[in-house]
Amino acid sequence: MIENKHKPDKLTGVKGMNDILPCDVGLWRFLENAIKSILHAYGYRNIRTPILEYTSLFRRSIGEVTDIVTKEMYSFVDSLNGQQLTMRPENTAAVVRAAIEHNLLYDGPKRLWYIGPMFRHERPQRGRYRQFHQVGVEALGFAGPDVDAEIILMCQRLWSDLGLTGIRLELNSLGHKHERAAHRDQLITYLEKYIELLDNDSKHRLYTNPLRVLDTKNPALQDIAANAPKIIDFLGEESLGHFKGVQSLLSANNVSFTINPRLVRGLDYYNMTVFEWVTDRLGAQGSVGGGGRYDPLIKQLGGKPALACGWALGIERILELLREDNPVPSDDGCDVYIVYQGDVAHSRAFVMAEQLRDTGLDVVLHCSTDNTSVSLRSQMRFADVSGAMYAVIIGDDEVRQDEVSIKLLRSDRTITNADRIQQRVPTKCLAEFLTNLIAAKTKKY
Ligand code: HAM
Repeated sequence: MIENKHKPDKLTGVKGMNDILPCDVGLWRFLENAIKSILHAYGYRNIRTPILEYTSLFRRSIGEVTDIVTKEMYSFVDSLNGQQLTMRPENTAAVVRAAIEHNLLYDGPKRLWYIGPMFRHERPQRGRYRQFHQVGVEALGFAGPDVDAEIILMCQRLWSDLGLTGIRLELNSLGHKHERAAHRDQLITYLEKYIELLDNDSKHRLYTNPLRVLDTKNPALQDIAANAPKIIDFLGEESLGHFKGVQSLLSANNVSFTINPRLVRGLDYYNMTVFEWVTDRLGAQGSVGGGGRYDPLIKQLGGKPALACGWALGIERILELLREDNPVPSDDGCDVYIVYQGDVAHSRAFVMAEQLRDTGLDVVLHCSTDNTSVSLRSQMRFADVSGAMYAVIIGDDEVRQDEVSIKLLRSDRTITNADRIQQRVPTKCLAEFLTNLIAAKTKKY
C-alpha cells in the first residue's frame, strides 16, 4: 500500500483534491446562487444521489472503452462485502439509475438538477482536478428539439447573468445508432489509410471507438481528423430535422453557435444533439461544460424507454473565469460581534447574544483563546477580522449605565463618516436598533 509516499511525515490533502477555504466560499456561494436562480426559473428540481455507485453502472452507461472507464475511475472493492464500487466520475448515469429505481417518470417527464463533487483520476493541472464539482441538468422523458434548446438557453442565461464573455457554443449531431454505424464503417476505412501516421491512442481507438479519433488533440493528426468523413453527412431526414429544429430555436433566441463536425464528446451514451461550451481563456482545459441527448440510456439501464438530454458544467472552470473578470466577493461575515469586559458584562453578553439571534441576527460572541481575560482593545481586533458588520461593546461604563456601545466595522466605500461614529443605546433597545440599522444598510447597498 502506498500512502502519501512523497512526504511520509506530513499530512496533506490528496493530490488533485482541493480544500475550499472560507476566503473562497464567497465566490462559490455567489456562483451557486446565480445557478440556482436559473434552475428554478426553468422549473428544474433538485435531485441528490450518492457519491458511491456500483462500478457496473458507469461501465454500462459511460462505455467500456472510454477514457473515463478505462483510466480515470476511482474504483475499489468494498472489503466488507466484496462489492465493486466507484466514486462517481459524473452524475448522468446515477440520475438515470435513480429515476428508474424510484419510477420517477411514472406521471410524466421530469426536469432535474444536481450539484456536487465528481472524481476522475486525471493528471491535475489548471482547471483539471481529481475531485471537481459539476452542476448538471437532466431533462428526462422529453423528445425535443425544444428541450435541447431550452437547456442550452439556460447556460447562455448563466453566462450573461455572470457577465462572462469569451465562451462559445459548439454544436453537432451524432444521429441515431444506425447512422453512426454507417459513418463508423467509412471512418475506419478512411483512418486505415493513415494507420502508419496515427499515434498509439488513435491506433487503439481505431476499432474500439473510432469517433474519438476525431477529437484528438495531437497537432500532427489535425489534418487527418479534419478531412475525415463527417457524421452529419450520414444523418437521415429525421435526425437532420431535429438538429435544424434545435438550431432555429437557438437562432430565434439570439444564441450564437458554430457547428463542429468533430465534436463527439467523451462518453458513449450520446446520440443526436451534442454540444460544448468552450473558451480559449483557460489554457488546455477549454471545455467549460457540455452535454447532449442520450435517448437510448434509460432503456439501456433497464428502464421503460424514455428520451432524455442534459448537460454538466465544471464549477472550478467557471470560477476561474469569474476570478479573472471580477473582484472576488468575500463571504459575508455575521451581523454583530460582541466584546465585553468583566464577569458581569460576560454573562450579560451571553444572554444578549441569544436574544439578538432570536430576532434573526447572526451574532458572534467573543470567546477567550486561552482562558485569560483580554482587553477590549484586543477583542476589537478579533471583531475586525471576523467580517462582522457591527461590534457591540459592553465595558464597565456600559454595565453601570445599562447601555451598550455600537460600532460600525465594515470599511465600505459607501459608508459615511456619520455612520462610523460609535453610538450608545440602552440595552433594552439594542435588538430593535440593530435590526433597523441592518435593514437600512441592506436596502442602501
Ligand atoms: P463532461 O464533458 O465529462 O460531461 O464534463 C462536463 C464538464 O465537467 C466539463 O466540460 C468540465 O468543465 C468539467 N470537468 C470534467 N472533468 C473535469 C476535471 N477533471 N476537473 C475539472 N473540471 C472537469 C459529463 O460529465 C456529462 N455527465 C454531462 C451531461 C449531463 N451530459 C448529459 N447530461
